[in-house]
Amino acid sequence: MLDTLKPIPPDAILGIMVLYRADQAPNKVDLSVGVYQDEAGRTPVLECVKRAEGEVYSAEDSKTYVGIAGNPGFNRGIEELLFGSGHPALADGRVATVQTPGGSGGLSVAAHLMHRANPDTRVWLSKPSWPNHLPLLRLAGLRLEHYPYYDQRAKRVDFEAMADAVGRIGSGDSVLIHGCCHNPCGADLSQAQWQALADLCERHGVVPFIDFAYQGLAEGLEDDAYGVRLMAERLPEVVIVASCSKNFGLYRERVGAVCVVSPDRERNLRVASNLSNIARGIYSMPPDHGAAIVARILSDAGLKALWMEELEEMRLRLNGLRTLLADKLAERGTSTDFSFVANERGMFSFLGISREQVIRLREEFHVYLVESSRINVAGINQRNVDYVADAIAAVLQA
Ligand code: LMR
Repeated sequence: MLDTLKPIPPDAILGIMVLYRADQAPNKVDLSVGVYQDEAGRTPVLECVKRAEGEVYSAEDSKTYVGIAGNPGFNRGIEELLFGSGHPALADGRVATVQTPGGSGGLSVAAHLMHRANPDTRVWLSKPSWPNHLPLLRLAGLRLEHYPYYDQRAKRVDFEAMADAVGRIGSGDSVLIHGCCHNPCGADLSQAQWQALADLCERHGVVPFIDFAYQGLAEGLEDDAYGVRLMAERLPEVVIVASCSKNFGLYRERVGAVCVVSPDRERNLRVASNLSNIARGIYSMPPDHGAAIVARILSDAGLKALWMEELEEMRLRLNGLRTLLADKLAERGTSTDFSFVANERGMFSFLGISREQVIRLREEFHVYLVESSRINVAGINQRNVDYVADAIAAVLQA
C-alpha cells in the first residue's frame, strides 16, 4: 500500500524553520516562521499566560473530557473578542462557535462545513495567500480559485482588481479574506474597502470566510475587528476562524476557534450541530490546556488588562521594527525603495527579491526567509538590523 506514496517536499514555511534550527552560525537570523520574537530574539511566554496557567493548574481537579465544542468559557470569550459585546449577531443568537486545535483546525472544520453544505462550493483565495490555505482547504474537498490582491509592483492592495473578481463570484460561493495583518504581504484592507466588499458580497450572495489569526497586531484589538464585525452585521452568513497562537503567544498549545454566523436561530442550531459533528469526525475534541488559559484571561479583568498591555507592546514593537528596517535599507541606498515595509502591518512583508537572492541570503549570510521573499519583521532587533540590511543590500547589488 505505502509503495504508491510519493515524497512531498518540505513545507514552504516550516521547512525553513528546520533549516534555521540546523544552522550553527552564531550570526544567523530567523525571519521565516510567523512567530513573535522580542528584542533578545526569544518567543517568551506572556506574563498573563504564566499567571493564568498557574491558576488553571491549581483549580484543575480532573482530566476528564471537556466536550466536542471545547471550553464554553473560551468560546464565549472569543465571541466577545471578535464581535464586541452587544453585536446584533450575538444578541440574536445567530453565532455558533467551536473551539478548535489552532486556527488551522478551525479552517479545516470550516472547510468541511462548507463542503458538507454544498460539495460544489468554491472558495476564492487572495493571490498571494498563506501557502497552507491551499492544501488545508483542498483536503476538505473544496474547489479553490484565486482573486488578485497584492500588486507586487505598486506594493499595495489592488482593490479594483479584487473587487472586479469578487463581483464575478457566483452566489453561495465564498471569498477567503484575511481579517488583518495579511499573511504573507502585510497589506490590509481599509475600512472603506471592507465596506465596498460587504456591498459586493451582499449583492452577489458571496459568503465571507475570514481568517482572523492576528487580531490586535495591526492597529489594535478593536480596529482590527472592523471587517469581521461589519461583515457579521451586513451579511446573513459569515464564517470566521480565529487563532490564539500569535496574540496570546500560545503557538504550541493549538488554540483557535471557528465562529459561524447564520441568518436565524433555527439555522444556527443546525450549523452548531454540524460543526460539532465535523469536529468529532476529524479529531473528536480539541485540547483544553491553552483554551482554559485564554478563558481565564478573558474572564478576569486584571489578567485581561495585562494581556492587552502585553499585546500592545508586541504590536508597537512590530510597527517600530518596520520603520527601523525601512530606514536602515534607505541608508544603504538600495536600488529598491523599501518604505512600503513601514506602512504594512503585522508580522509579514514581501521584500520583493528573487528566489535566488533569498537563497543567497540564507546560504551566504545565514538570514532565513520564506522563498517567496516573505519576511517576519519580528526576527529583527537592534543587534541584527544593520547586519540584515547589509545582507539585503549585498544580494541586491550583485
Ligand atoms: C506562518 O505563516 O509562518 C505561521 O502562520 C506559521 C505556519 O503555520 O505557517
